[in-house]
Amino acid sequence: MKILITGNLGYIGPVVSKYLKNVNKSNHLTGLDNAFFAHCLTAPLFSPEAYVDVQYKMDVRQVDEPFLQQFDAIVHLAAVSNDPMGNKFERVTDEINHLASVLLAQKAAAAGVKTFVFASSCSIYGFADGGPRKETDPLNPLTAYAKSKVATENGLASLSGTSDMTITALRFSTACGMSDRLRLDLVLNDFVASAFSSGKITVLSDGSPWRPLIDVKDMARAIEWALTRKKETGGKYLAVNIGRNDFNYQVKDIAQVVADVLPGTEISINVNAQPDKRSYRVDFNLFSQLAPDHQPQVNLYQSAVEIKEGLTRMHFADINFRESQLIRLKVLEKLMNESRINANLEWIL
Ligand SMILES: NC(=O)c1ccc[n+]([C@@H]2O[C@H](COP(=O)([O-])OP(=O)(O)OC[C@H]3O[C@@H](n4cnc5c(N)ncnc54)[C@H](O)[C@@H]3O)[C@@H](O)[C@H]2O)c1
Repeated sequence: MKILITGNLGYIGPVVSKYLKNVNKSNHLTGLDNAFFAHCLTAPLFSPEAYVDVQYKMDVRQVDEPFLQQFDAIVHLAAVSNDPMGNKFERVTDEINHLASVLLAQKAAAAGVKTFVFASSCSIYGFADGGPRKETDPLNPLTAYAKSKVATENGLASLSGTSDMTITALRFSTACGMSDRLRLDLVLNDFVASAFSSGKITVLSDGSPWRPLIDVKDMARAIEWALTRKKETGGKYLAVNIGRNDFNYQVKDIAQVVADVLPGTEISINVNAQPDKRSYRVDFNLFSQLAPDHQPQVNLYQSAVEIKEGLTRMHFADINFRESQLIRLKVLEKLMNESRINANLEWIL
């Protein structure tokens, strides 16, 4: 299969490229990325782009229809990819994550691309009191990032009414785990880095909020399923929660697992904190019914061990890592302060 992976030079991309190449050597992979984080490598044994056959440094807003005619499938990861960046770059977040994503899918359909896989997010459920959220439950996106994902899903659903392309919106749990471009702006990764460098984890909430987590390797497994699923399995357009029912965790439990992996870690919980608005549990029954052979396999403990091993390889010791290039917002701010990119997230160089 000839597959275009947008946003492949990020956190998840290197893991996805490796997985898709290993699962089927005849997969021909083309990467397309604006390269904002290309330099943020975290001690890979060799370049993660060795798994990619062709690499473009390109803005997803510039892609045209003739370029897309060569591909059977698109895995669309490129995005302003978390709440802090979405809050800082609100208008551009809508432009890239929503408008450019729907346009990309429209051009792909017109170009004859058969399969489109979109990286959506469970954060679209927002604050969700009560039981675990199902795909049919109301959405409550609280941030510019989450709103951009909802708007894209809506655009893709309506495109599906007029095209033959099989479209899957994968509503991913919060990512965790080791990558050749590790990020420390994710809850588990932050806790491991904090325990590793300072021997402490400071939980800002009272520890009760729920988060569904998924290891990056299991995200790759789900993407491979979406690339190969038939329309009969889930329909021509499908939005599905990606994770596992027993991988919904409370933040205090995430901290405890990290302390198990790094014995001696001190955990401090803010018992007087206001309720955290980003608490939600998610129901993954639909995914387990549709994709029994592609279920998440990496548990929290294993993910934490692999991050610890990665940090060891990196000789990691930075207690100020929240100011470092392992935090995506800091990378964009630095590029902007040095006038490398403008407020529209375009390169000036
Ligand atoms: N990390 C998570 O917890 C999580 C959870 C759910 C969904 N997702 C989604 O998965 C996708 C990948 O996430 P990630 O964690 O690897 O993010 P990331 O920020 O590490 O990578 C995104 C990549 O997209 C590229 N990009 C951004 N704007 C671009 C543009 N205009 N043109 C071309 N490339 C552009 C960036 O350079 C970056 O390499 C995103 O769509 C994200 O929203 C992530």
